[in-house]
Amino acid sequence: MGLLDALEAQAPGTAYAEADLVRRVVREARGDRGRLLAAGALGLLVGLANAALPLLITAALDAAVAGRGTTRVLALLAAGALVGGAGWLLGVVSGGLAGAASENLVLRLRRALLRALPGKGLAFFQSHATGDLASRVVVDTAQAGGMIRTVVGALGDAVLVIGLSAVLLVIDLELGAVTLALGVLICAVTFVFRRVSRVCARRMAQSTGALAGHVLEITAGAEAIRSFGAQTTAECEFDELHGRWYRATLAVNRLFSGIFPALVALTGCATVAVVAVGGPRVADGSLALPTWFLFLQCIALFWGPITGLSSVWSSVQSGLASAERVFSVIDEQPQGLLTGTIAPEDLKGRIEMDDVSFRYAGAAGDQLRHVSLSIEPGERVAVVGPTGAGKSTLLKLLLGAFGDYRGDIRFAGIELQDIDPAALRRRIGVVTQEVHLFEGSVADNIAAGLPGATREQVEAVCAQLAGGEWVTLFDQGLDTRLQHNGARLSAGQRQLVVLARVLLEDPDILLLDEPTSNLDPLTDWSVQQALSDAARGRTCIMVAHRPQTLYWVDRVVVVRDGAVEAQGRVDEVEVRDEDLAGR
Ligand SMILES: Nc1ncnc2c1ncn2[C@@H]1O[C@H](COP(=O)(O)OP(=O)(O)OP(=O)(O)O)[C@@H](O)[C@H]1O
Ligand SMILES: [Mg+2]
Repeated sequence: MGLLDALEAQAPGTAYAEADLVRRVVREARGDRGRLLAAGALGLLVGLANAALPLLITAALDAAVAGRGTTRVLALLAAGALVGGAGWLLGVVSGGLAGAASENLVLRLRRALLRALPGKGLAFFQSHATGDLASRVVVDTAQAGGMIRTVVGALGDAVLVIGLSAVLLVIDLELGAVTLALGVLICAVTFVFRRVSRVCARRMAQSTGALAGHVLEITAGAEAIRSFGAQTTAECEFDELHGRWYRATLAVNRLFSGIFPALVALTGCATVAVVAVGGPRVADGSLALPTWFLFLQCIALFWGPITGLSSVWSSVQSGLASAERVFSVIDEQPQGLLTGTIAPEDLKGRIEMDDVSFRYAGAAGDQLRHVSLSIEPGERVAVVGPTGAGKSTLLKLLLGAFGDYRGDIRFAGIELQDIDPAALRRRIGVVTQEVHLFEGSVADNIAAGLPGATREQVEAVCAQLAGGEWVTLFDQGLDTRLQHNGARLSAGQRQLVVLARVLLEDPDILLLDEPTSNLDPLTDWSVQQALSDAARGRTCIMVAHRPQTLYWVDRVVVVRDGAVEAQGRVDEVEVRDEDLAGR
């Protein structure tokens, strides 16, 4: 296995053909077509101006050598200055337009990613590190957008090189051929460089994403890592990921530090060749001195654009590698996602699970086995069972998180498989153990449940929960500012804020995974009261960890080892201590 094969072996699962990636980027940039066309046209003019400059200087030199008068020489030099100035000005305008188009593309890609992410489902987020996703949203989109600016900027360089090469060939075929032969050699070197640079760029993007993911994980879990003395493991993992990133960065640096001296050496060879071929011809009078000077000027002039064009290539390669990382997330079809289209007005009917079994992707056995349940509208059901029994999995299935279950699930007679997952989520309120609060006031956090919710609606929903007293315990009531996922609130208080947010949407069904720890007595009571208030008038299925809960529900369902072992009123079923695990 060669070096490239070894590198390619690390390519991401969804590898796109280069042409497809280019087409897709062009499609995404379509909105800025006018701007890009103008930037490109101006870029071409910049190239023409830059190509005209050495010709004007040569003409001035010609006039000076031939003694055609100072005025003519000065006029030619003034024209040169004018053309140079115009080239600079057009370059600024073209760069500005291309820059705006490229930033717009970045924005469009970021929006597309952020729009795509919420619909990916739970399984997707379990298989992608948050940091890696964040790095795709922030870093890769910028890299992909930057590629457009570089390409437009390269148009002027291409015109300069191609236009001037044609002029050189017309002026003197022999010297022109010598100069261009070396130009072709330089292009060949950059062509080989192209393939290696794509692999390196892809490795860089992957290792940056993995490193960002790990850093995010150890930052979020810093306290847990410290208290479990797991620093060494975290550091070892960090060292390994950092090592990968370090090697990828070094490879890119090596590539660049190898390619540029090679190109400089080739340019040196071109100068030597033009001097060696042109010198004797100037001496024997078959080549004019200004023309020879033009060729020497052009070698220096070509060097910038040709190496520029080669770095364009590497920028395009890393841009495409990044675009690939962005599109692969947008396009990823998570396994077992629901794809139904029916959007019921409400979900007030009976919920039926008929012989439902489910296995997480890659798991050895089933996590839910032949579950059959029928829940009446407005019924309150507590699900209990030992840790790992499958209670949360049952709730996730009802929420439409996984479509690849076996058996039937129906809401008000409609198959879950046929229901539009977004419509389902709108009618189901969920409070799990993993509470997420945004930065902002308590009121903002609650209002997030219903776009356009008024202060009165927020206050009303708080008053519905345990008499609303829990709000008065916050420093500034509803205006208390929350930071870092509500770090200064107790687990129960966080749960109450989320419950209020969920109720604002007025869902038909509530799925609750009860909080298990850190409840102070007052909030414990408030949470109990609030849960019972929230459940009023709705179907409520709740994973229960506290015996008190079992006394205000209509039915207790005991799940053990993925199967329903018993169900009935609290006095009809045997609930063991371990069934209320996590208390
Ligand atoms: N994403 C996953 N991939 C594979 N297996 C999983 C996944 N999530 C959960 N499991 C497994 O499925 C089983 C049921 O998990 P689940 O979270 O439903 O348990 P639970 O009854 O809610 O437990 P607890 O009371 O501790 O919350 C467990 O054996 C668990 O290890
Ligand atoms: Mg659970």
